[in-house]
Amino acid sequence: MSAPAAAPPKTFHVKSFGCQMNAYDGERMGELMAAQGMTAAAAPGDADLVVLNTCHIREKATEKVYSDIGRLRKDAREHGRAAPMIAVAGCVAQAEGEEIVRRAKVDVVVGPQAYHNLPDLVARAARGAPALDTDMPAASKFGALPARRKVAPGAFLTVQEGCDKFCTYCVVPYTRGAEVSRPFVAIVDEATALVDAGAREITLLGQNVNAWDGGDGRGLHDLIRALDRIPGLARIRYTTSHPNDMAQGLIDAHRDVESLMPFLHLPVQAGNDRVLRAMNRSHTRDSYLRLIDRIRAARPDIALSGDFIVGFPGETEAAFADTLSLVDAVGHAQAFSFKYSPRPGTPAATMPDQVPAAVMDERLQRLQAALNRDQAAFNAASVGRTCDVLIERPGKLPGQWLGKSPWLQSVHVVGDHAPGDLVRVTLMQAGPNSLAGMVAPPVTEPA
Ligand code: 5AD
Ligand code: SF4
Repeated sequence: MSAPAAAPPKTFHVKSFGCQMNAYDGERMGELMAAQGMTAAAAPGDADLVVLNTCHIREKATEKVYSDIGRLRKDAREHGRAAPMIAVAGCVAQAEGEEIVRRAKVDVVVGPQAYHNLPDLVARAARGAPALDTDMPAASKFGALPARRKVAPGAFLTVQEGCDKFCTYCVVPYTRGAEVSRPFVAIVDEATALVDAGAREITLLGQNVNAWDGGDGRGLHDLIRALDRIPGLARIRYTTSHPNDMAQGLIDAHRDVESLMPFLHLPVQAGNDRVLRAMNRSHTRDSYLRLIDRIRAARPDIALSGDFIVGFPGETEAAFADTLSLVDAVGHAQAFSFKYSPRPGTPAATMPDQVPAAVMDERLQRLQAALNRDQAAFNAASVGRTCDVLIERPGKLPGQWLGKSPWLQSVHVVGDHAPGDLVRVTLMQAGPNSLAGMVAPPVTEPA
């Protein structure tokens, strides 16, 4: 039985969870609906259509979607409003498909490779039947998306999607599909449009962004060198990378290309070779550390970031100690760390020797203490440096602005600034998560 037809929604709200690729997809879905004449609502409670752009990477993220759906409907009931139309997008949509319609009676389910069809699906749902599209078509969705118009000073640009690595804990190869690179020209065109629309910094996104392949021998470093020539584009970043795809050309670009920021997110996950092998990571502790040495030789001030998983099946206390010693050896500027979460359908979910939750909790605490220590040390070592800060938004105090250093640190600075300004700042004081800076006096040429 299908639901009664409803008026097509006039207002929408997109809520994105998880990674930056989802944030990019969420922005693009917003642009798509705005191009249909719909208006963005600031809060879900003001919207006729709520798009939950979901993440499937850990169990908690999936359960959160169902509780969010329940909360949206409860809020509407309590405020005497009609329940909004609900679209579930992103990786939970891809993984669960029909199951979400069955379990939560949502109106639209759309996978990450199909969201260019969102307006059609919404129109179909408004006619009364749940609409579902989790296809992974051969033709890219990007050509079907509207042009970029107005963006923040720091913009995201997806250049690559999917993953062929099949780490044994990870759902991404199943939810986002195989590695696909967008064409060189399409990316340069979108980057140019982003700069015309106000972007000063572009972060190139991909699940394995450094595996970007132009198909003609060109790699990510060639793309970065091309983007470096776009007038008005001050900064380039990229995330997230796999150690095995870290080509020498890309390392060299960190030495040569001034607009390529000295920051690298290079997940290692664990520091013990037996665990890395069981994870199917295809790098070892030693090959990772040697790679870091080569990157630091090219760009000594580079800020290193990473992802870690504690409690992978079979991780012993001695194996975990190897992760702690790798952290000591690298000295990260920042990092993300997670408790292993078994994902249905992945090989690790059925491996023996699953680690008890209490052990994982305790290991995560120890790891995070080490990572926090290193982040604080990195920030403290930045004090006294003078660098450009890209102003992003007003801070909490009057006259205060918040921006990013080249090393992706949040910096507070007082002055007469505006979003998109690149301000020369001396870093004066370091906290655990941000720094305070002062506008540096202009450099005067010696007479
Ligand atoms: N459990 C815990 N963490 C995971 N990640 C990916 N899959 C899992 C999982 N099943 C982490 C990895 C990855 C990051 C995006 O999420 O560290 O790099
Ligand atoms: Fe997942 Fe591994 Fe691919 Fe990263 S490289 S998306 S962790 S399978």
